[in-house]
Amino acid sequence: MEITLTGITTTGAPHLGNYVGAIQPAIEASRRKDVQSFYFLADYHALVKCQDPALVHRSRLEVAATWLALGLDVENVIFYAQTDIPEILELTWMLTCVTAKGLMNRAHAYKAAVAENMADPDKDPDKGVTMGLFSYPILMAADILMFKANKVPVGKDQIQHLEMARDIAARFNYLYGDHFPLPEAVVDEKTAVLVGLDGRKMSKSYGNTIPLFEPEKALRKLIMRIKTNSLPPEAPKDPETCILFQIYQAFATVEEATALRERYAQGIAWGEMKQLLFEYLNVRLSEPRQHYHELLKAPDHIEQILKRGAIRAREYSVPFLQELRRSVGIRPLSL
Ligand code: TRP
Repeated sequence: MEITLTGITTTGAPHLGNYVGAIQPAIEASRRKDVQSFYFLADYHALVKCQDPALVHRSRLEVAATWLALGLDVENVIFYAQTDIPEILELTWMLTCVTAKGLMNRAHAYKAAVAENMADPDKDPDKGVTMGLFSYPILMAADILMFKANKVPVGKDQIQHLEMARDIAARFNYLYGDHFPLPEAVVDEKTAVLVGLDGRKMSKSYGNTIPLFEPEKALRKLIMRIKTNSLPPEAPKDPETCILFQIYQAFATVEEATALRERYAQGIAWGEMKQLLFEYLNVRLSEPRQHYHELLKAPDHIEQILKRGAIRAREYSVPFLQELRRSVGIRPLSL
């Protein structure tokens, strides 16, 4: 059976880019009966990026509420917080012990941090790099391998992490027997990386995001702020290089996108297009937005759902970890 798994790091409220790259495909897959899906809050990963306890706490609630508000089927999928599954950390250590340091040296996020430091000759190349950041891909591999996932829906920027998870799994399998299937990234090419307000990838670290459940007025304001070029209203415009179009397309059906492309060719004023995009998104988001705000007021209800998910997840992780322990030689001394 196909096993799908994905996690979302709990730092800040989810934005449109998260929705398009990970949440939406995951929720669609969550309704499939022929797949066992695992979805989780990557709250251990959050500690790598965020050392503000209030924000970590708040984000766990916001991310969980987001998934539920968007219609995650929690009967069909197993939905949990990573920190409720202690087996993941133990597996992380087992994997850490078979992972080449050189493999981690090649991770994009780590290399980018080093490159930035190197630009300043007075800085240590590893300034500000924690072991958490350095080992991030190993924790992610443990998330995936713990549940023998074979399909992992992620944004394009996570492909390297999936390659690393495969390398690590293969090394473990080679040493200790065939325990892990090799996981594959599932990237929706159409919508893999959504651009942000300024034209760069939409990302919390660039501060250019559109939060998913922004109140109506604020959503409108953000869309009005999106950078466009200075073509006059009646001039034909290129949809493929336009941020407004790309966001629209990420949500629209093929037919809707084709119709809008036609309007670009005829010339559509930027003001009109922004209004159109706002209205389109607002209609799509208003119901889940309301549900989201109700859920935020019911944290106990959310907690219960997560705890139930953790119990179900541990039905897999507890016995599997025992198997893994035995395979590396950690077993009762009499056996
Ligand atoms: N690193 C992922 C991100 O930043 C989040 C994540 C953590 C994840 N563990 C995972 C995604 C396991 C897929 C599978 O988006």
